[in-house]
Amino acid sequence: MAYLKLTDVTYRYKNSEKAAVSNLNCIFTTGRLYAVVGPSGSGKSTLLSLLSGLDAPTEGEISYNGTNLKNMDLDRYRREDIAMIFQMFHLFPLLTVLENVCYPLELCGVKPSSAKPRAKALLETVGITADEMKRFPSNLSGGQQQRVAIARSLAVGAKFLLADEPTGNLDAANTKNIMDILMRLTRQEDYCVIVVTHDSEVAEMTDWVMKMRDGKLIL
Ligand SMILES: Nc1ncnc2c1ncn2[C@@H]1O[C@H](COP(=O)(O)OP(=O)(O)OP(=O)(O)O)[C@@H](O)[C@H]1O
Ligand SMILES: [Mg+2]
Repeated sequence: MAYLKLTDVTYRYKNSEKAAVSNLNCIFTTGRLYAVVGPSGSGKSTLLSLLSGLDAPTEGEISYNGTNLKNMDLDRYRREDIAMIFQMFHLFPLLTVLENVCYPLELCGVKPSSAKPRAKALLETVGITADEMKRFPSNLSGGQQQRVAIARSLAVGAKFLLADEPTGNLDAANTKNIMDILMRLTRQEDYCVIVVTHDSEVAEMTDWVMKMRDGKLIL
C-alpha cells in the first residue's frame, strides 16, 4: 500500500500573511477515493498543489511512502507518481485525442509504436471509441473530454490522481460516469484518487470526505 502523509503542514503564499493551509495532519492511501470539500478560499487547491510537489510546505512535511518530498527528485515524482486532472480538462487542442494520450508516454521515452496501442487501450477503458480518438478535443463533449483527460493521467502509471473539480463543468449523468471510473480505479486497480469538489452528491460517492475551512481540516 502506497501513501501520502501530511504532518503539521502549513503553507503561506508569498506576500500573504495568512496561511492558506495550516496545521494539516492527514494521510491518503491507495485503494481509496477521497473528497475534499469546503468553501471557496478554504485551501483545497493549495492542498492539491502541495501534494503534487508544485509547492513545498512553509512548515511541516509531506512524505511519500515514508520519504520526505523535500528529499525526492520532484520532477520524477510529478512525472511518475502523481497525476493531475482539472475542471477545464487541459487537453492539447492541436493534438488529436489519441495523440493527447500518447504524448506523456513519449515524454517518458516510450516509442511511438508502443505508445499508440497503449494509449488506445487506455482510451477504451474510459469508453472513448475509435472514431472519437481521431478527433480534436474540441469536437468531443465535456464528459468525453474529461474521460480523455483521465486516460491521459493514467498513461504513465502514477497511482495518485489529484482531481480539482473534475466534474465541475459536467451534467449529472456525465458526473456519475466520471465518478464511476474513478471509483473503479480505486477498487480494481488500487489507485488513490483525491477529488476536490463543491458538489455534495460527488462527495457522497467517495469513501472519505475531508472538510476544510479557513485552511484547516475540520471533523
Ligand atoms: N497565488 C496566490 N497568492 C496568494 N494567495 C493565494 C494564491 N492562491 C490562493 N491564495 C489564497 O489562499 C487561500 C486558499 O486558496 P485556494 O485556492 O487553495 O482555495 P480553494 O479552497 O481551492 O477555493 P475555490 O473553491 O474557490 O477553488 C485563499 O485565501 C486564496 O486567496
Ligand atoms: Mg480551488
